[in-house]
Amino acid sequence: MSVKIGNIDLGEFPLLLAPMEDVSDPPFRFVCKQNGVDMMYTEFISSEGLIRDAAKSVAKLDIFEYERPIGIQIFGSEIESMREATKIASAAHPDLIDINYGCPVKNVACRGAGASLLQDIDRMVLMTKAVVESTSLPVTVKTRLGWDDNTKNVYEVAERLQDVGIKALTIHGRTRAQMYKGEADWSLIRDIKRNPRIQIPIFGNGDVNSIEKAADWRMEYEVDGIMIGRAAIGYPWIFREIKHFFKTGEYLPEPTISERVEVCRTHFEKSILWKGEKTGIFEMRRHYANYFKGIPDFKEYRMKLVSLESISDIHATLDEINERFQIEMA
Ligand SMILES: Cc1cc2nc3c(=O)[nH]c(=O)nc-3n(C[C@H](O)[C@H](O)[C@H](O)COP(=O)(O)O)c2cc1C
Repeated sequence: MSVKIGNIDLGEFPLLLAPMEDVSDPPFRFVCKQNGVDMMYTEFISSEGLIRDAAKSVAKLDIFEYERPIGIQIFGSEIESMREATKIASAAHPDLIDINYGCPVKNVACRGAGASLLQDIDRMVLMTKAVVESTSLPVTVKTRLGWDDNTKNVYEVAERLQDVGIKALTIHGRTRAQMYKGEADWSLIRDIKRNPRIQIPIFGNGDVNSIEKAADWRMEYEVDGIMIGRAAIGYPWIFREIKHFFKTGEYLPEPTISERVEVCRTHFEKSILWKGEKTGIFEMRRHYANYFKGIPDFKEYRMKLVSLESISDIHATLDEINERFQIEMA
């Protein structure tokens, strides 16, 4: 059965790319889209930043036709600001607006925003209602199990946010207190799926990093789809591999060195196009190691890639990697 968010048809058991600050930008989303992801989100965008027209926030509104369906994720601590930000984000014509109630960080941007709202569900409900009322687009929410072990209140959150009109809910199987530590626990997510009052799609998130886990957790936790974050960094093939397995029951071969080089190169080229030469080269540096994870004796090339300063030198090094490891791994 097809999963629907409002009128957006995501097909059967969709795979979603998690919103990730400094990662899920247009260049990275391009390679995920090439590899079969069903739905993507922008990095989180500060509502205050949008209202002040801050360059960094506004840049994150850039979305492209080929990315659809795509959601813009916003966060904030003030209801009025969230209302305004929803209008600004909607004017960028995404397919939906997502609210971040999961950010665990206590820095200035997240103070009173993100997962903090899990401590005050009444306020979370009011904020969500304000966002829903400020746009004609479907609104989705991404959150955690609760604030800490003693207050795992996502069951109540799911019901109350559905009642004010959200169209899907993604739950990261950790509390705010856990940050990213420990194992994600999806059992509460299954409880929500089994709640007969819940009609909206429920997506599971947290720690899915293999085909086996995706297949096992799909069965075990009964979710409508899975959102993947970290495992896609440097490995966007995870989407096509899981999708292929679900369709055929068979494993696709792992990407070859040439494929790794080509996808890394595409990511690099898109970075330059979208961010300009200097920032494109700089921000790509954090991705190289991930594209070539598990390749023995790669360190020398990684060091080189993260220090080179010209586009042509980086292309030449990628060519060199392709040739050298082609031979070694044959
Ligand atoms: C580098 C990084 C940045 C993130 N930024 C965001 C964000 O902007 N918005 C959000 O809702 N979650 C953010 N998250 C959380 C992820 O969306 C996701 O919930 C979390 O990583 C667990 O999923 P995973 O185990 O598949 O990575 C971020 C996570 C990471 C690792």
